[in-house]
Amino acid sequence: MSATHDGGRQEVPVIETTTPSEPTAPDAVRNISPAAAGLPPEIRAKMALALDVDDLVEALRLARRLSPWFGVAKVGLELFVAAGPDVVGALIDNGFEVFLDLKLHDIPSTVRKAANVSGALGVRYLSLHAQGGDEMLRAGVEGLYAGARNAGLSEPMAVAITVLTSDADAPAHIVPNRLRSAVEAGCSGIICSGVDLKTVRELSPRTLRVVPGIRGAGADSHDQPFPITPEQAIKDGADLLVVGRAVTLAPDPAAAAALLFKDVE
Ligand code: C5P
Repeated sequence: MSATHDGGRQEVPVIETTTPSEPTAPDAVRNISPAAAGLPPEIRAKMALALDVDDLVEALRLARRLSPWFGVAKVGLELFVAAGPDVVGALIDNGFEVFLDLKLHDIPSTVRKAANVSGALGVRYLSLHAQGGDEMLRAGVEGLYAGARNAGLSEPMAVAITVLTSDADAPAHIVPNRLRSAVEAGCSGIICSGVDLKTVRELSPRTLRVVPGIRGAGADSHDQPFPITPEQAIKDGADLLVVGRAVTLAPDPAAAAALLFKDVE
């Protein structure tokens, strides 16, 4: 059975945050964190869950479990290689928008064709690597739009990767240069680290800003050199927040999501 957004809420444990000095129920009900019940629809739509697993069943289980917090499911290389394109339809059937994070980077003709197929699958977002240059990016955008149009679907968004956020040594001029290249090629969005958010917003206010590296304050940042909390990312202008290991590696992913988003408004 497909999980609906509302249906997913029933599975979420309620986390109470009463302090010893607080009165007991019914007043204690006021102290239940809103994040424990999921996020409001407009915030949930900004949250992309990175399903970096190698199994379709596990991916769907995680996605359904975390659906109160995430409106977008991100399919990266690992899951796509393991499960193939069917994973996109399965996630859409479960009520998610899909971010296909294939970081396309090849000759323009190949990128155009891969983007075309992606568009026909019904993805909402597709990533292209801006290192591939203007012509490649333009081919990707055109292919993506054509694929969706020919399948009778609404227009998806091409998002360009500036630099991988695991690369802390990228020179400073790279992000503005690649942003310009992506915008000129017709990309709708840019993927950048939290430290580049303000610059990207200043240089191109209307470009969708996608930010990986989301972590709770003081949490393990793994290989992300520029972790940023969700509330700070939103404050700095993030439109789509990519969250992976901060919740997927937790023993209780739903509790981890509730904790991660406890200060998000
Ligand atoms: O687990 P974590 O929250 O660090 O996941 C980050 C996700 O964002 C991964 O799926 C990774 O592929 C993706 N990503 C990234 N840096 C980019 C683009 C995408 O880390 N520039």
